[in-house]
Amino acid sequence: MTKPPRKKSRMRKEDYFSTTLGSMVLGDSLEILEKRFKPSSVDLIMTSPPFGLVRKKEYGNVDADKYVAWFKPFGELFKRILKPTGSLVIDIGGAWIPGLPTRSLYHYELLIMLARECGFHLAEEFYWWNPAKLPTPAEWVTVRRIRVKDAINCVWWLSPTPWPKASNRRVLAPYSNAMKDLLRNGYRAKLRPSGHDISEKFSIDNGAAIPPNLLAIAHTESNSFYLRYCKEKGIEPHPARFPAELPEFFIRMLTDRGDVVVDPFAGSCVTGEVAERLKRKWTCVELLEDYLRGGVTRFSRDEDLSLGDPPTRRPDEHFYKAYHPATTWNGHEGDPLPADGGRRRQLKTQKPAAPKATLRKTRRVSRSLVTAEA
Ligand SMILES: C[S@@+](CC[C@H](N)C(=O)[O-])C[C@H]1O[C@@H](n2cnc3c(N)ncnc32)[C@H](O)[C@@H]1O
Repeated sequence: MTKPPRKKSRMRKEDYFSTTLGSMVLGDSLEILEKRFKPSSVDLIMTSPPFGLVRKKEYGNVDADKYVAWFKPFGELFKRILKPTGSLVIDIGGAWIPGLPTRSLYHYELLIMLARECGFHLAEEFYWWNPAKLPTPAEWVTVRRIRVKDAINCVWWLSPTPWPKASNRRVLAPYSNAMKDLLRNGYRAKLRPSGHDISEKFSIDNGAAIPPNLLAIAHTESNSFYLRYCKEKGIEPHPARFPAELPEFFIRMLTDRGDVVVDPFAGSCVTGEVAERLKRKWTCVELLEDYLRGGVTRFSRDEDLSLGDPPTRRPDEHFYKAYHPATTWNGHEGDPLPADGGRRRQLKTQKPAAPKATLRKTRRVSRSLVTAEA
């Protein structure tokens, strides 16, 4: 084991690194959290657990069972240490069953186990959409063309009681242009075809919009302080980091300054970095020292931490465009569907028909949105 970095503040013996607000701990979170936290003492557990387990095994359900059994003691511990007003937020990606174009159910089974066996409530399910996700697995998506790109992670927001403390006012989104028009020009209150009664209140300008449970965050970190530091020091960056905006959304919405945030599967300690910047107390536990070595850099730069990395997003990236699925439905369906569901790999003998991407006349869409082929 290499020597842990120099103390920054009062550290406990087992701390790998600490600041006045939090600490990174090397070890198994099952033991560490049990020792460190009394029952009902934590406000938010924000984490992304490992899900490689599923990939390494052969077929779906057995894996899912094993994964859920592995997770259960963590679920019980999390339930014990969370305050009744606390929250557990789990970012978890789906997985393909090796060799087949079908998906594991493990993350849904995890959710059901946490609710049925550990007693959590599902406060709300979120989806993190990564517009920069690559089209994999190539065999199903780009070669046989029988599945589409999987570009979302599930984010389960659970709570020990139905009443976790929360406010969507902390995470408001900018108004869309359509909403701005509506606020400018007014809205005539009426009953919608869906039966919803849209009242006059709909046209009150609240300054910003209530966000949906779809979080659009392109995961494109390429020149961050963390990556530059890892490169310079010859440290392998953590391969499965989440973008800081993901924990930030939930830390803002679900905790106040001074509250306690825990990440039991901390990796490179993104959760700790965000909690430190937002003045929450934090504890991040990670099993592998290499990941903590890189993570320390998140707290060790000379500049004021609150400045963060210089913004890497262009102004036009505040909004991501999503296709209306009918954008390219223009009457040209192309080849018949593979009768065997794509089981046999077809070698294309004839030149594929050129993609037809003409717009439907009835739909007003920006030209830049129209490409029929990925
Ligand atoms: C998906 S990664 C988390 C990445 C992290 N969110 C980030 O952005 O860097 C999951 C991490 O959990 C760690 N881990 C697995 N079992 C653990 C345990 N029992 N205690 C602590 N950490 C564990 C793994 O080593 C891995 O780094």
